[in-house]
Amino acid sequence: MPFLSETLSRVKPSPTIAVTNKARELKAAGKDVIGLGAGEPDFDTPANIKAAGIRAIEEGKTKYTAVDGLPELKEAICAKFKRDNNLDYVPAQVSVSGGGKQVLYNALVATLNAGDEVIIPAPYWVSYPDMVLLAGGTPVAIEGKLENGFKITGEQLEAAITPKTKWFIFNSPSNPTGAGYSKEELKELTDVLMKHPHVWVMSDDMYEHLAFDGFEFCTPAEIEPGLYERTLTVNGVSKAYAMTGWRIGYAAGPVELIAAMRKVQSQSTSNPCSISQYAAVEALNGPQDFIASNNAAFVRRRNMVVEMLNAAEGITCPTPEGAFYVYPDISGCLGKTSAGGVKIENDEDFASALLEENGVAVVFGAAFGLSPNFRVSYATSDEALKEACTRIQAFCKGLK
Ligand SMILES: Cc1ncc(COP(=O)(O)O)c(C=O)c1O
Repeated sequence: MPFLSETLSRVKPSPTIAVTNKARELKAAGKDVIGLGAGEPDFDTPANIKAAGIRAIEEGKTKYTAVDGLPELKEAICAKFKRDNNLDYVPAQVSVSGGGKQVLYNALVATLNAGDEVIIPAPYWVSYPDMVLLAGGTPVAIEGKLENGFKITGEQLEAAITPKTKWFIFNSPSNPTGAGYSKEELKELTDVLMKHPHVWVMSDDMYEHLAFDGFEFCTPAEIEPGLYERTLTVNGVSKAYAMTGWRIGYAAGPVELIAAMRKVQSQSTSNPCSISQYAAVEALNGPQDFIASNNAAFVRRRNMVVEMLNAAEGITCPTPEGAFYVYPDISGCLGKTSAGGVKIENDEDFASALLEENGVAVVFGAAFGLSPNFRVSYATSDEALKEACTRIQAFCKGLK
């Protein structure tokens, strides 16, 4: 009898975490490495939010809370959905977990049966397919091509839907491409979904506030109210509020789904950290002005990175609408050999030779389901980014 579960054998560890760890190890061993792998802002959590966490500790708010969130946090989340997305929810429709990741996982575990299909536009956040597999479902990827700004079309979505489709996972702005769907582009998808009432929508809005150049964020239940009864709108404080380590994510949707997710959480992790929940109340209800100043830094960095990568031989890098990632195409580098003698057959070869030879850690595109590309997280200092892009240019120049 095998000791490990069969389900686990179908799942791979997160490649983004693996790259971050590898870069950390090389650095610890004294190597000069610049890590562009981590999906988290380099900014500190704003002072008012940290103070709310400290206050919670000092006031002894350190006990178990309601399984899926403090009433005051649920109220703050309902107010956020109304304010930002014009969506009406009551606290019974809200679930809070240890990060957006746990929210998504709870929803999949609560709903998937063997054979159920989940449509995931590629390139995708690395965890979606593996979470679907862990929950017993079948991931079905559709490719958003470079020519279409890495976005899928209504036609592609229509073709992927079968009687077994349970969920469509939507993520805009996207990890790993930064691509954001305009209202018109999203409407094209929601029009298709309206024709298939058995398909539910999981909208991962984690990068909502990281939208640039006047790009207007939109979410499916807002664009198509007809989908409200079968949409789970997911969000969190990790990215916009620089709170990745606090582990708070949340979602709103139909009461029965939220109750099922609560059941999963009640038998796995119980409530998310009480201190973090109080900090999240402050994040959502407190001043929001630092988001704009953080975004100004992100735009500056994005523009520099896009320009420098496009100047590297063999690389094409589109300018995305949001998040803090770019997803350059390396078609022009394939088939060549690096200065260190590595034949670049695919994006994994490219990323590992770049790390070994020039000390820049990026995540290869195959991990996100669309090749040949790599992902750069530009949530790091301007100086580090400039040096990293200079090294990438040198690496590409050395390809023969
Ligand atoms: C698209 C996307 N969704 C969800 C998450 C999960 O974020 P967290 O669990 O920190 O809230 C991430 C984090 O990288 C992400 O990129």
